[in-house]
Amino acid sequence: MRVSAAKNAVLPILAATLLTGDECRIRDIPEIQDVLTMHRLIELLGAEIRREEEEWVLRTPAVLTSEASYDLVRMMRASILVMGPLLARTGQAVAGLPGGCAIGVRPIDLHLKGFAALGAEISLSHGRVQAVANGRLRGAHIYLDYPSVTATENILMAAVLAEGTTTIENAAEEPEVVDLANFLNSMGARVSGAGTRLVRVEGVKELHGSSYTPIPDRIEAGTFLVAAAATGGWVALENVVPDHLAAVIAKLREAGVAVETEGDRVVAEGPARPSATNVKTLPYPGFPTDMQAPFMALLTIAQGTSVITETVFENRFRHVEELKRMGARIDIEGPSAIVHGVERLTGAPVTASDLRAGAALVVAGLVAEGETEIAGVHHIDRGYKDLVERLRSLGANIERVSGVPSLQFEE
Ligand code: UD1
Repeated sequence: MRVSAAKNAVLPILAATLLTGDECRIRDIPEIQDVLTMHRLIELLGAEIRREEEEWVLRTPAVLTSEASYDLVRMMRASILVMGPLLARTGQAVAGLPGGCAIGVRPIDLHLKGFAALGAEISLSHGRVQAVANGRLRGAHIYLDYPSVTATENILMAAVLAEGTTTIENAAEEPEVVDLANFLNSMGARVSGAGTRLVRVEGVKELHGSSYTPIPDRIEAGTFLVAAAATGGWVALENVVPDHLAAVIAKLREAGVAVETEGDRVVAEGPARPSATNVKTLPYPGFPTDMQAPFMALLTIAQGTSVITETVFENRFRHVEELKRMGARIDIEGPSAIVHGVERLTGAPVTASDLRAGAALVVAGLVAEGETEIAGVHHIDRGYKDLVERLRSLGANIERVSGVPSLQFEE
């Protein structure tokens, strides 16, 4: 099974194409709902986009408006990623305050503080946030109170065209940040230190076009590994960077899963029954919060009791009630879920409340005795390409009965 390009790398890279009037070619883009939302958004901002076989060809000769429509921002929080490029290219960026997954408060104060440090004036009114630069942005030293992924990316994209040097301290170290930095450098930017806590940007006057292939999706890969592990099955994945999955692989092994890596391949084989293990989500290289829900599905059937602690987002346990409806025994204590492993789950009608909760319910449904019907599959469509078909090709008994995907590439 080949893993798709990373949604969370593709989204900022598509936004970054707004930084130049030249043509950019991005290969291997997964046409999942969030990516199509970003397509729509940058098109409204002036991007001309066409598909050529495996590539998207994008060019933004002129920015038509500096406002990210609230409708799209509401659908997908990552829409906020266009603010940095808009601000850098046009000196102005306006966005509806973001919605997206219902997993915690998720303010954007760090993004805005970064823009302000670069010299933009920030104002909030009527549910919109506006950043206006008086002339070119100016490099600055920015300390992030938390290593937010999209705040790091947004500030990075604003800083590449600023005058002088920007340093981002306590930056997010996620591989997707590194991928964005590599893409920006391929466009002529001068970014160093991406992947460490201190990122340095030497501003340049302009960027040029580039061809790029984004990194593979470590969360998609992790989800398939967990699905195989939970069902006591076997899976071989290609197009993986095993280093990006180090924490997930370590925890799978603790749970008794046999995982082997070689080059860009990972092979996993699940045990008859997984062992309990404790998991704590953290910024990269810690265990990814996006894997918390699917991993919990695995641990519901483990031998023993596991403690899963969520430190990145508040309120990211909405899958717990649904898993309990399938027979899981889970108690929530503050930021931790205490998972008492049961021998088996039983199928039930359940509802996906967000993308990764949906993935967790799919994993649970695969192992449960009897039939599980999952509502809210549009959440799953946001982040997984052809999940049903690909799981079926691995031997899963799963079908899509309604909620036919509205995925459409509008050319
Ligand atoms: C990104 C990922 C998402 C992943 C998350 C954490 C994308 C498109 N999405 O989301 O899949 O779950 O990283 O790995 O890449 N925070 C603030 N102020 C801010 C920004 C964030 O307080 O201005 C807080 C949030 O409330 C949250 C924490 O920082 O508690 C982490 O959020 P952040 O890293 O920003 O997540 P996203 O970038 O939104």
